[in-house]
Amino acid sequence: MASSAPIHGNWIAGKWVPARSARTFENRNPADVTNLVGRFADSDARDAKDAVDVAAEAYKSWRLVPGPQRGEILYRLGEILRDRKEDYARDMTREMGKVLKEARGDVQEAIDMAFLMGGEGRRLHGQTTPSELPNKFAMSVRSPIGVCAFITPWNFPMAIPAWKTTAALVCGNTVVIKPATDTPLSVVNFARALEDAGLPPGVFNVVTGSGSKVGMPLLKDPRVKVVSFTGSTAVGQTINEACAPTFKHVHLEMGGKNPILVMDDANLELAVDGAIWGAFGTSGQRCTASSRLLVHKKVVRRFTAMLAERANALKVGSGLDEKIEMGPSINESQLDTVLDYISIGKDEGAKCVAGGRRLAGKAHTKGWFVAPTVFTDCNRRMRVAREEIFGPVTSIVPITSLEEGIDIANDSDYGLSSAIFTQDVNKAFVAMRDLEAGIFYVNLPTIGAETHLPFGGVKKTGNGHREAGLAALDVFSEWKSIYVDYSGTIQKAQIDVPAGAARPPKKRT
Ligand code: UN1
Repeated sequence: MASSAPIHGNWIAGKWVPARSARTFENRNPADVTNLVGRFADSDARDAKDAVDVAAEAYKSWRLVPGPQRGEILYRLGEILRDRKEDYARDMTREMGKVLKEARGDVQEAIDMAFLMGGEGRRLHGQTTPSELPNKFAMSVRSPIGVCAFITPWNFPMAIPAWKTTAALVCGNTVVIKPATDTPLSVVNFARALEDAGLPPGVFNVVTGSGSKVGMPLLKDPRVKVVSFTGSTAVGQTINEACAPTFKHVHLEMGGKNPILVMDDANLELAVDGAIWGAFGTSGQRCTASSRLLVHKKVVRRFTAMLAERANALKVGSGLDEKIEMGPSINESQLDTVLDYISIGKDEGAKCVAGGRRLAGKAHTKGWFVAPTVFTDCNRRMRVAREEIFGPVTSIVPITSLEEGIDIANDSDYGLSSAIFTQDVNKAFVAMRDLEAGIFYVNLPTIGAETHLPFGGVKKTGNGHREAGLAALDVFSEWKSIYVDYSGTIQKAQIDVPAGAARPPKKRT
C-alpha cells in the first residue's frame, strides 16, 4: 500500500521536479493514519532558491502582460476548478480530514476567488484627479511588486492559497508557495489547475517541506518582496522579525478567539444551530471558529442544555462518509494540544457538559478524533476562554448585559470575527460598532466569510492588512502616482499655483 502511494515533486519553472535532497515526506489521512495519501518533496534552501530564481525571472515578463489577459487565465482557473471540484474535494478530505461538504466549500472558495480576481484584471482601478496646475495631468496606478512568498496553513488547504495567489497574480506578481506539510496535495492540485489554465511557467511555483528548511530561506531572500502568511500568532511574529532586515511587505493572518454574544431575546434554536456550526465546523480548526459563547444568564441554562445535546449527537468520523458531521483533528500533536486544553479547562473549574475526551470507538482508533466538547460556567480569566485551541472545544461564559458581553468579548488579544444573536436591531448595531474585530455577523456564527469582502482581523490577529475582497489588491500592489505636464514649462507644485488661488487672509479692522 505504502509503496503504491504517488510521489509528488516541487512545481518549479512549469515542471515537477524532485527535491535537491531527493528525499520525500509522507502525507497521511488524519481519519485513518494507515492510509498514505502521498509522498512529497522534502525540500530545503536549495529548492527554495531555485524557485525564487525562476519566479524572479518570470516576473520580468509577467508584469508586462496586460491585466485583462492575466484575468482571463484566472477565469479559466475558475472553470477548471469547477470541473474538478469533486476530485479535489475528495483529495482534500483525505489529506486534511474535514467533511466532504466542507471540502467542496473550500474548493468553491478558490473558484469564487478565481472569478473575483479574474474580473479585477479589467479593473485594477486607480484614480485620476485634477492637478493644481494648468496643463498638467495627475493619476495613480497600481504597480506589481515582484516575487511573493506564501506560507499557507492546513485548515483551508486550497481556499487560502487561492486568496493569496489570485490577488497576487492579477496584480502582475509571481509566486513561490510553501504549503503546510499536512496538506501539500491541495496546493499540488491547485498548481495543476493553474498550469492547465495557461499560466506561463515560473509565474507560480510550489516548494513543499518544512517551515525551517523552506520557509525561512524564502523569508531571508532579498529578491522576495512580499510575504503573506496565515497561521498562529507566535509563528507570525517570527515571520515578521525574519522579514524586517530586508524590508519586505508582510501580510499576516493569525489567531482568533471569536465570540458569539447570545442575548436573552435571541431565537435560541437559531443560536444553538449557529454555535454548533461555528464551534465544530472543520472540527473547530478555523481561525474564525466560535470558541467563546457569551450567553445572557437568563437563557444560559436552556442554551447550554440544548447545545450539549446537539454536540453529543454529532456524528464524528471519516469525512469521506457523507453521513459524518465532524472529522478528526489534523495530526497527533494537534490532538494532544486539544486534549491538554480539555484537562486545563477541567482543572480550572470549567464544567464539561459535552465531550471532553478522545474518541476511542471502532471508527476512531486509526485517527485523531476528539469528541465535540462544551465547557460551561467559564469566566473570562480561564485559559480555555482566552487562548486559541484550534479544536472542537467551545466555552460558555454567562453575561448579565450587552455591555458586559462586549467588555468580555473585547478583553482578548485577538480580534478576527465576532457575532451576536438577537432580535433587537438596536443591540445588533451597538455590538456592530463596539466589538473589536475585522468581521461581524448578526444572527450567524463567526464563520462563513464570503470572498468578495475583506477578510482579516485587528489586534494580534493581523498587522493591518486584509485578504480576499478588493482589499487584497493593497497587499499585492504599490501605488504609483504619475504627473504629466504638457505646459512646456517646469511648473512647480505648491509654488507656481495660479494667481488668486492662495490669497493672503483679509486683515481684520
Ligand atoms: C479560517 O478560519 O481560517 O469565513 C478561514 C470562513 C471561511 C474562511 C475561514 N470562509 O469561515
